[in-house]
Amino acid sequence: MTIVIEPMRREDLSEILAIEVASFAVPWTQEMFESELARGDLSEILVARLADAGTPPPVGGYICVWVVSDELHINNIAVDPRWRRRGIAGALLEAALDHGRVRGARRAFLEVRVSNLAAQALYRQYGFEAAGVRRGYYDQPTEDAVIMRRERL
Ligand SMILES: CC(C)(COP(=O)(O)OP(=O)(O)OC[C@H]1O[C@@H](n2cnc3c(N)ncnc32)[C@H](O)[C@@H]1OP(=O)(O)O)[C@@H](O)C(=O)NCCC(=O)NCCS
Repeated sequence: MTIVIEPMRREDLSEILAIEVASFAVPWTQEMFESELARGDLSEILVARLADAGTPPPVGGYICVWVVSDELHINNIAVDPRWRRRGIAGALLEAALDHGRVRGARRAFLEVRVSNLAAQALYRQYGFEAAGVRRGYYDQPTEDAVIMRRERL
């Protein structure tokens, strides 16, 4: 499969929202994605286009990040359930780490549900380690977040 990572375009929104709804109990709304797009340099949303999976190539997944000072914050990542376990999230994460690196980030942070072992395995594969817990961070169901950190991008 050929995965092409590029910045989100406004036309990608409907595909992104469908993946978001299929992936999370409390999905981001259209307004939340639009406000990320309007933030300018601080915020970036990268999409993974599946170059040989259709015309036009479908969006297989996306990642939303902020670069704040020397920190990369990973705020959201999801992959279309039909295309999971083919390396799409890994490709998105690598591209996001590169994005942070070229903008001066030296470390990366994210939060993940304690029960989300798939995502934790993904992050560990890319050098993240547990760095703390935020009690009751998530709703529906209420759950703690593991804070994960990668030093030395
Ligand atoms: C977590 C998620 C983004 C992974 O996407 P993906 O494209 O399937 O991940 P990849 O194929 O790039 O997997 C890379 C590595 O992550 C780990 N991983 C991914 N899915 C896994 C699973 N279901 N169980 C265990 N490990 C998993 C593995 O180490 C995997 O490497 P391997 O396939 O060589 O074993 C995807 O399952 C998803 O969208 N989940 C719902 C949204 C979500 O939980 N987002 C994270 C919020 S913090």
